[in-house]
Amino acid sequence: MRILSGIQPSGVLHIGNYFGMMRPAIALQADGEALYFIADYHALTSVRDPDTLRENSRRIALDFLACGLDPERATVFRHSDVPQVTELAWILSTVAPMGLLERATSYKDKLARGMAATVGLFNYPVLMASDILIYDSDIVPVGKDQKQHIEITRDLAVKMNETFGEIFKLPEARIQAATETVPGIDGQKMSKSYGNNIDIFGDEKETRKRVMSVVTDSTPVEATKNPDKSTIFMLYSLVASQDEVADMRERFLEGGTGYADFKKGLFEKLWEYFAPMRKRREEILKDKSYIDDALAHGAKRANEIADQVMQRVRRAVGLR
Ligand code: AMP
Ligand code: TRP
Repeated sequence: MRILSGIQPSGVLHIGNYFGMMRPAIALQADGEALYFIADYHALTSVRDPDTLRENSRRIALDFLACGLDPERATVFRHSDVPQVTELAWILSTVAPMGLLERATSYKDKLARGMAATVGLFNYPVLMASDILIYDSDIVPVGKDQKQHIEITRDLAVKMNETFGEIFKLPEARIQAATETVPGIDGQKMSKSYGNNIDIFGDEKETRKRVMSVVTDSTPVEATKNPDKSTIFMLYSLVASQDEVADMRERFLEGGTGYADFKKGLFEKLWEYFAPMRKRREEILKDKSYIDDALAHGAKRANEIADQVMQRVRRAVGLR
């Protein structure tokens, strides 16, 4: 079984990325051949400064490795170290129906947030389909917001297979039900573009400040509170043990505890949860060649697979 996922180096990783995509991806390393990449070609749709893109890519690699990605078990690489994906994206785009891409919600969302309508942004799902199909991937662990992209990938694979014969496997999205969407401090989906993120490796003071500013309703201290409508409770459920979660639920229902106390509890658990990752991050930073070695090793393996699949594709469509 081959497992593949990617993450854009367009900013700092937050706990929505962690629980929605990174943690499941890390867990899947044990179940098959995992390939995880830093999607720098994709990030070009929003990052326009070369130094920023390079720095972000390295930092995302560092953070992902610190969170438990194991380069001995998984293939970790940079998207742009496998330029064949852009060739496959072109080939896929020649069968991709306009209507299919016009229905893509992420494109519309990005325009609504003020991004310029470029061809690259519109074509993003085709490049993403190429990322997935070029490795004969079976399983793609992603957050819920990427589900439509996997559906588009399957549609394009079917189209290619119908047109040129069986070339591609149909990949499946693996979405974590428990953490479908991690809320941000305002209760909306956590996203760096909404500015409501709590970062995995934010400093202590800033992280505490963000947790203390989680938006709540105005239920008075004495009154009973609804845990199932509370962002504090939802975030706490991700980082605390079952007993601790049950205890917080009870205290919500009992009344007598204010939101500020719940937030303090949340901060402590959150800080503790990521402590081993912060430690691992420090260790990796001390080893000057660790990240580059992991990426170079990963690029080699990813290229081997991509070259094989591309031979099959080129032959099937008549390019060689
Ligand atoms: P992004 O770079 O923010 O588009 O997301 C990278 C990965 O993290 C994708 O697989 C997303 O689905 C996932 N992700 C991002 N934000 C959240 C969130 N708030 N809850 C769950 N998953 C998320
Ligand atoms: N589009 C994904 C995101 O924004 C990143 C990504 C690019 C990806 N290519 C992929 C995820 C292939 C899974 C598989 O988060």
